[in-house]
Amino acid sequence: MQRPPAEVRYADELARLRETDRGERPPGWALSLQAARTFITGDPAAGISRKFVGDPSLIDRSLVTLATSRGLMLVGEPGTAKSLLSELLAAAVSGDSTLVIQGGAATTEDQIKYSWNYALLVAEGPTPRSLVSAPLLRGMAEGRVVRFEEITRCPLEVQDCLLSPLSDRVLAIPELPGDDGLVFARDGFTVIATANTRDRGVNEMSAALKRRFNFETVFPIPDLATELDLVQTQATELLLRSGVRVPPRRDVLEVLVTTFRELRDGVTERGDSMERLSAVMSTAEAVSVAHAVGLRGWFLRGEAGDAGDIVACLAGTAAKDNADDLARLRHYLQQQARARPGAQWQALHAARNLLPG
Ligand SMILES: Nc1ncnc2c1ncn2[C@@H]1O[C@H](COP(=O)(O)OP(=O)(O)OP(=O)(O)O)[C@@H](O)[C@H]1O
Ligand SMILES: [Mg+2]
Repeated sequence: MQRPPAEVRYADELARLRETDRGERPPGWALSLQAARTFITGDPAAGISRKFVGDPSLIDRSLVTLATSRGLMLVGEPGTAKSLLSELLAAAVSGDSTLVIQGGAATTEDQIKYSWNYALLVAEGPTPRSLVSAPLLRGMAEGRVVRFEEITRCPLEVQDCLLSPLSDRVLAIPELPGDDGLVFARDGFTVIATANTRDRGVNEMSAALKRRFNFETVFPIPDLATELDLVQTQATELLLRSGVRVPPRRDVLEVLVTTFRELRDGVTERGDSMERLSAVMSTAEAVSVAHAVGLRGWFLRGEAGDAGDIVACLAGTAAKDNADDLARLRHYLQQQARARPGAQWQALHAARNLLPG
């Protein structure tokens, strides 16, 4: 598997936490709030890794929301680990993060609630056997967390099918007769939705549905050192999995993360303002460029990647098909990189002609 779900990747940690968990658990939860928090923020003494870097109080508020009857809505810039956080929360609370609805312009109610096995439907009519449960119905019936990714990209009418599951905790299946026609939510059922602020915003959501969610904003990592550590840990892990046997160099990563932060924020470390890029330059992109840099170094030359590889990998991430971004990036490599001390900054400057065009 290229990327197993969190409950599989961290199965040992979850098992250990369950064993030692003495806290009170909300009904239907696999862990107490304290243990769920430890799973996400980590505890080196107990051998639990830190998986999400950010304000611990955000995790506490999110867990408390999930224990109430309101849904949790994670909003923020792209690449701030909203999806990762929702996966970790679902794995901690339900032991399963795979009940996922991926929102998009073409998402239909069938993909959210339920549909039918047409062969059985024709043969025996609408019966529980011919019913095919989608994530919302399964989450309600089994008392688990349902994740709704990029909810604001769905049409409004489709989003609104969450209204009665979230408020009355019941889903009607009018086709089924009698008791089978109403599915009541079991303890542990709740919804974690994510939405990013660059696509259609959360104002594209009905007021009725907004009321049923508590909103939490996930912010980019504020300081360089923390972001650098995270990029180093994650890139090292990805490179190992890709068969690269040398770890990424710290001095190269420092140049990479600094470049990303400056192009993202439009200010240099020294406080000078500069033009920011319109492309998304999040931590997630920094991790993937660090991965690509290591791959280039190893598979092309048998060594860890250097600042020249950063330039080669940056064009596709930072400039995409936008000529203005490419010009801004070129200007950054020419002016900013040249002025910095250190061999890797000089290498970054020297490699500027690797940019296309
Ligand atoms: N604060 C953070 N803690 C841990 N990992 C982070 C953090 N910020 C970014 N990352 C990294 O970035 C990736 C986040 O990607 P993810 O898809 O979860 O972001 P997202 O906010 O859902 O983005 P999008 O809005 O584009 O869907 C993680 O897998 C991780 O590698
Ligand atoms: Mg996401």
